[in-house]
Amino acid sequence: IAKIEIKLKDIPEGKSVTFKWRGKPLFVRHRTEAEIEDVRSVKLSSLRDPESDDKRVKDPRWLILIGVCTHLGCVPIANAGDFGGYYCPCHGSHFDASGRVRKGPAPLNLAVPNYEFLDEDTLLVG
Ligand code: FES
Repeated sequence: IAKIEIKLKDIPEGKSVTFKWRGKPLFVRHRTEAEIEDVRSVKLSSLRDPESDDKRVKDPRWLILIGVCTHLGCVPIANAGDFGGYYCPCHGSHFDASGRVRKGPAPLNLAVPNYEFLDEDTLLVG
């Protein structure tokens, strides 16, 4: 299917849920206040692929990512690794709660797909 509609109220704060979209994993993460503050306080100059968090999300509470590691394509694990976001077990890449690479061989941040919020509770990806 080209587009996927996701009900946000089913995803509790602090959780990242994996969906399947266009044959790939899609991560939808309901971020906590602490996670948002943490990723917003990071200096861009310290990032390998410098992108500010506000460019990667449309609503700070929701992080939407393609769940494919930018190194060699494994699927990272949620809420793991040194930066609390995602960890790729294949060769040890660590991503923060903005999906940005912070350590390990991945060259780029996890990709953000096209999406929009249809209403307060409905996300449309694609
Ligand atoms: Fe993720 Fe290599 S595929 S670190």
